[in-house]
Formats: sequence, structure tokens, C-alpha cells
Amino acid sequence: MRIGDIDFGNNLILAPMAGVTDVGFRQVCSIMGADASYSEMLSARAMLYNPKKTELMTITSPYEKIKIGQIFGHESDVMGEAVKNPLLDRYDILDINMGCPAPKIVKNGEGSALMKNMKLASEIIKACKKNAKVPISVKFRLGYDRDISVDFGRMCEESGASFVTLHARTALQGYSGRADLDAIAKLKASLKIAVVGNGDVTDIESYHNMLQTGVDGVMIGRGAQGRPWIFKEILGEEFKGNKFNVICHHVEVLRKYYDEKWLTLYLRKHFLWYVSNVENASTYRLEIATSPSIDESLEILKKILNN
Ligand SMILES: Cc1cc2nc3c(=O)[nH]c(=O)nc-3n(C[C@H](O)[C@H](O)[C@H](O)COP(=O)(O)O)c2cc1C
Repeated sequence: MRIGDIDFGNNLILAPMAGVTDVGFRQVCSIMGADASYSEMLSARAMLYNPKKTELMTITSPYEKIKIGQIFGHESDVMGEAVKNPLLDRYDILDINMGCPAPKIVKNGEGSALMKNMKLASEIIKACKKNAKVPISVKFRLGYDRDISVDFGRMCEESGASFVTLHARTALQGYSGRADLDAIAKLKASLKIAVVGNGDVTDIESYHNMLQTGVDGVMIGRGAQGRPWIFKEILGEEFKGNKFNVICHHVEVLRKYYDEKWLTLYLRKHFLWYVSNVENASTYRLEIATSPSIDESLEILKKILNN
């Protein structure tokens, strides 16, 4: 996939995941083969009125190949101004979130609520496109409560998006059921701009099923949680490195930026994901979930993984 002069290499993309895709995680996924990675979603209002609040979230890693910043909001003027924020100069592409189903986002008319207001969604894309120095993309779902993805994708294309990403579930579905690969194929066949397919890619088989839709790129979210080496595996290379060292690398990057107390709590979920598929790890789950320090957690993980 090529967007202007940006070449996506193997077209493997790490999904934006709020509260998950921190800079350390993005760094290890990039080293494992992700060609592009997204920031966690950034509030356009915060970018405009309180940028200090989001500054930490805009830190990128030099290992990230193509850096995509994702913004969310519901006002075309605010979003059009927000994309001028110098903090966003760190990104090669800016993406607009039109798929988030979280009630607190939808209630403000943001995320997937924009799929119910195609006119406003178009105004937002045009306003961002007009002021951004880099290409604009849009990530959306099938629709809010039914599949309108082809019409919505056409609107994105006509409004100036350089590519779109489809997570093939409706917002009301949340994460239930399976991603609708036929809908992804239909969208790809209907648009001239590139389409990235997203939903349920967790291994080589599901990756190949996604490629069958004809998409230009494949995005992986939950499949990478605790398994940043999934990108290597999907590329057909077995990961032979030491998993514990990957975890230490993830932690080391975060320690450069975040307070130890906050990180201790934040990292627990990552630590639990890292050992979720490891035999005999279940006896240590409670210890990890309640561990008072990162170093103690690392000792437990070392014991589990290096056994
Ligand atoms: C914890 C979590 C946080 C997420 N945060 C975002 C987000 O900030 N922006 C976004 O567009 N999608 C977000 N998503 C959706 C993912 O990017 C992706 O579309 C979804 O997980 C489906 O892909 P998967 O089956 O590969 O996980 C999030 C998903 C999860 C599980």
C-alpha cells in the first residue's frame, strides 16, 4: 500500500487501542514487523485547548516506521484547528476516529455516532484535510446499527480521505460476533482509495482470510496484546527471541516517560496478557494482578517464561 510517497512495506498495521498501544508497546511491535502504528485516540478539543493533557500520548518511538496520529471529536471547526497543533507534526498521517462505540464518546456525537451523521462526518474530513500537512485517513465500523460501510466509505473518499480502515462490525455489536469479511471485500471493490481490513486477525490463517478480501493493508489489534511477535509470525518468521527480554524492552521505554507508581498499575494488564497463553501461568495470575512493583512483577514473569 502506498499513500503519496509513504510506502507501507508489508502492509501490516498495529491498531489504535486506547489504554494499550503506549509508546513502548508500539516500539516492540514495530521491531517485530508492524509497518505502521497508531497513537491512542487523541481528543481534538484537548489538542486545541489543553494540549499538555495529551502531550504524553503523542510521544512516538524512532522505531515506528509509519506514525499515524488518531484524533476524535464532533466539531468540524475544532477538528480542523486541532490538526494544526505542532504536537501532531510527529505523525506521517492523521486518522479520524469514526468507529469508537464507547458510550461516553457516542453520547458526545463522536466516534461511531458520526456514522449516523454523514453530513457532519464529511465536513470534519474536509476541515481536517484543508489544514493538515499530511494525508488524512478515516477508521470506521460497518455502521452504527446496520451496514452502511460502502456509502460511508464513498463519502470519505469524496471528502478527501487518502485511505480508510474498516473494522467490520457495527458499533452496537461491540466486539460480539465475527468481523464481516464480505463487507470488507465489498468496500474494497467500491472504492478507488486504499482500504485497510480490520477485525479478528489473530494468526496466519485469519490474516490470509483477511487478504482474500483484496484489502491493501491488514490491521491487528487484540491479536497483538501480549503477543507483539504476532507481526513476525504472520510474516512467516518464527519468533525465536526471548519473550522476557521483549517485556523488559517494553517496560524500559515506558520508564523513560512515566511515573513508576502509575506504571505499576498500568502495566499489570500487559503483564497478564504476556503470560495468558503460557501453561502453568494461571497460578501466578493473582500475584501479577496485585504485585506492588514492576520489578517484582518482572521477577514472576521471568520465572514463568524462562522455565
Ligand atoms: C482496548 C481497546 C482500545 C481501543 N481503542 C481504540 C481507539 O482508540 N481508536 C480506534 O479507532 N479503535 C480502538 N479500538 C478498536 C481497535 O482499533 C480495532 O478496531 C478492534 O479491536 C478490532 O480489531 P481486532 O479484532 O484486531 O482487535 C480499541 C480496541 C480495544 C480492544
